[in-house]
Amino acid sequence: MRKIFVAGNWKMNMTKAEAAALVDGLAKTLGSSLPVEVAVCPPFVYLDTVADHIKGTAMKLGAQNCYFETKGAFTGEVSPQMLLDVGCTFVIIGHSERRHTIGKGECDGMINKKVHAALKAGLKPILAIGEKLEQRDGNQMEAILTQQLKDGLAGLTAEQMATITVAYEPVWAIGTGRNATPQQAQDAHVHIRKVLAEMFGQAVAANTTIQYGGSMNAANAAELMAQKDVDGGLIGGASLKIDDFTKIVQAAVKAKGL
Ligand code: 13P
Repeated sequence: MRKIFVAGNWKMNMTKAEAAALVDGLAKTLGSSLPVEVAVCPPFVYLDTVADHIKGTAMKLGAQNCYFETKGAFTGEVSPQMLLDVGCTFVIIGHSERRHTIGKGECDGMINKKVHAALKAGLKPILAIGEKLEQRDGNQMEAILTQQLKDGLAGLTAEQMATITVAYEPVWAIGTGRNATPQQAQDAHVHIRKVLAEMFGQAVAANTTIQYGGSMNAANAAELMAQKDVDGGLIGGASLKIDDFTKIVQAAVKAKGL
């Protein structure tokens, strides 16, 4: 059975003290063992602190991005090896804010290099993909997801794919309060799994965890998680609050009967 996985993407939020308080609180509400995978992805500068505070808890550590080189003259960048060094298990790659909002944006070629570099270092990538509103309205949703998967996962073996999580995050649902309907999420996830089956075979596709992300919160998590192909969530805003993130994790446990 594929892994159910809920991750909190804190984005550029929190102070060091708030970061520590958030995971200390989650450690209490979530308990020390869980039937689902849970990760928190703080900003780079708080990874070390959060790593200390989640020792012995059910939470794992993830980063929000990485570079594709191991070291050298790349001012401001962080290598996968550095992330591993401070205790990361996961790294989000290809988030829509990195594709579309920051600087000139990351292209699929760079995202693919990052996926390979992260795997080589021993990190587990969470590849984020998703269509913009005009692409959905123009009936291009499936084509965009296909292209982002084919380009982002190019050159991977089936064995490597087994360590990758895909996060479906429709751009129009991120930070807007307008989540995809459960049916929209399910339909997109079915398409993603179909493409993965074409690329890596049926067994790998059936075992790949596909998270939904985009305005998932304590109120809508249950119905989204109830969808057969929604294997967890990548949570932004609601992951910054102990109560909300806890409820989302609990909704995943309940929806999947774990
Ligand atoms: P929100 O949950 O704030 O919409 O963000 C989703 C997201 O981008 C997670 O990576």
